[in-house]
Amino acid sequence: MTIQFSLTDQAPETATTACVVVGVFEERMLTVAAARVDEKSGGAIKRLSEAGDINGKLCSSQLLFALPGITAPRVLVVGLGEQKKFDAARFQRACGEAARALKSLPLDSAVSYLTEIEVPGKDAAWSVRTAALATDAQAYRYTATFKPRDKAKIPEFSALAFAAPASAASALPTANAIAAGVRYARELGNLPPNICTPAYIAEQAEKFAHEHPGVSCEVLEEEDMGKLGMGALLGVAQGSANEPKLIVLQWRGAGENDKPYALVGKGITFDTGGISIKPSAGMEEMKFDMCGGASVLGAFVSAVELKLKLNLVCVVPAVENMPGGKAQRPSDVVTTMSGQTVEVLNTDAEGRLILCDALTYVQKFKPQVIIDTATLTGACVVALGKHASGLMTRDDDLAAELLAAGETTLDRAWRLPLWDDYQSQLDTGYADIANIGGKYAGAITAGCFLSRFTEGFRWAHLDIAGTAWEDGRKGSATGRPVPLLVQWLIDRAGNRE
Ligand code: BES
Ligand code: MN
Ligand code: ZN
Repeated sequence: MTIQFSLTDQAPETATTACVVVGVFEERMLTVAAARVDEKSGGAIKRLSEAGDINGKLCSSQLLFALPGITAPRVLVVGLGEQKKFDAARFQRACGEAARALKSLPLDSAVSYLTEIEVPGKDAAWSVRTAALATDAQAYRYTATFKPRDKAKIPEFSALAFAAPASAASALPTANAIAAGVRYARELGNLPPNICTPAYIAEQAEKFAHEHPGVSCEVLEEEDMGKLGMGALLGVAQGSANEPKLIVLQWRGAGENDKPYALVGKGITFDTGGISIKPSAGMEEMKFDMCGGASVLGAFVSAVELKLKLNLVCVVPAVENMPGGKAQRPSDVVTTMSGQTVEVLNTDAEGRLILCDALTYVQKFKPQVIIDTATLTGACVVALGKHASGLMTRDDDLAAELLAAGETTLDRAWRLPLWDDYQSQLDTGYADIANIGGKYAGAITAGCFLSRFTEGFRWAHLDIAGTAWEDGRKGSATGRPVPLLVQWLIDRAGNRE
């Protein structure tokens, strides 16, 4: 289900909607809207607070029916936690909880007053955008590979209005565009690897280009990549019956002479590890190994939707990493498009092998900055867990820009060093570079490997191995770091808000 978002200036007690959403803090601290509902209903909320039915704990919620003096038939009371700890992240979580509760109810519309709550350091537009995105993230449901179900006759949650000043209205198109990009990335990520093959991703990109003026798409085939000398990418691809594709999307939102921003994303549609095969337990999660590619495509979708005044080029090497009679072996030496040779000591360190050729290729567009995103290393998940993406760059200004974009969108990254000290871990006696760096600092040595292919460019690498999906049977692609990337692009664009 997709949700229509709007702004409203209706009062909570007279709002004509199926449900009004208000927040309460712990220790019976009511927000302005909750206090108003309480007063008009003769103390309904305070009574339930005193009885302990409403406790204000973060991410709790209670649904109240038919309160006297309140027009809406339902009031959803959402817990905000302790008032003194309330911040941007807690606001986002409370909005997510509200959406989770709303989508399970037989109603089609609601009005949220959570956006009236003061969030330290943020304005109303930020609150509306964040609330909308938290709602859309809850509303997204993966259905592609289920038997089609008859549409239920009960109403479905499909419209949410936020109480906010008209000055926040610009947040709505921004939120819609980011939501579209996040959904695009999540859907590609969630699709199984027998459907979401390199050819499938390429078709989706071509379809998007056809439907959007100003967008062009080119897909390089195996033969083209051979001619370009992409020996590292093709070495990974050679074990699979699914042919590799190098997808190139371009958006022209600025003048011919404006150097483009370049986004490059790892698109391993399934990572078995190759001959250095992975253990079978948990291998199914490696269908998400194209989430870097999906995220740059998602960010591209958002940028086009926003008609950002900048030029953008998006490159996705889409490849499947399989073992087999034609697969590459540990100790194979391949020659990259850059001319540097690589000893493939572990065929499971394949992300950097496809990215190095894509990073060399994208340089032909003379980009002013290159950002790559990749589910690159398990080591990054060990270092940062599933909350922050790993950011690696030698450019302090670029690091600051990306970290700030992550803070604004709560799609956070944390910087790891790329000091030269680590580079010697990639030494080998048989080629210019080894594709693995040994036991220590695995996320950083992967970043060091990529750095060898981006010399002379402003470049940053985001390792999203921990943040791209939630684990478990029902775990879903998150769409991260689409919000971070889009915010960073918005901040760079001519039509910035
Ligand atoms: N796609 C994996 C990284 C990964 C693993 C992401 C687990 C998320 C969860 C990548 O291709 C890989 O296999 N990396 C190896 C590198 C190693 C062989 C140097 C890893 O992290 O173990
Ligand atoms: Mn791998
Ligand atoms: Zn991988």
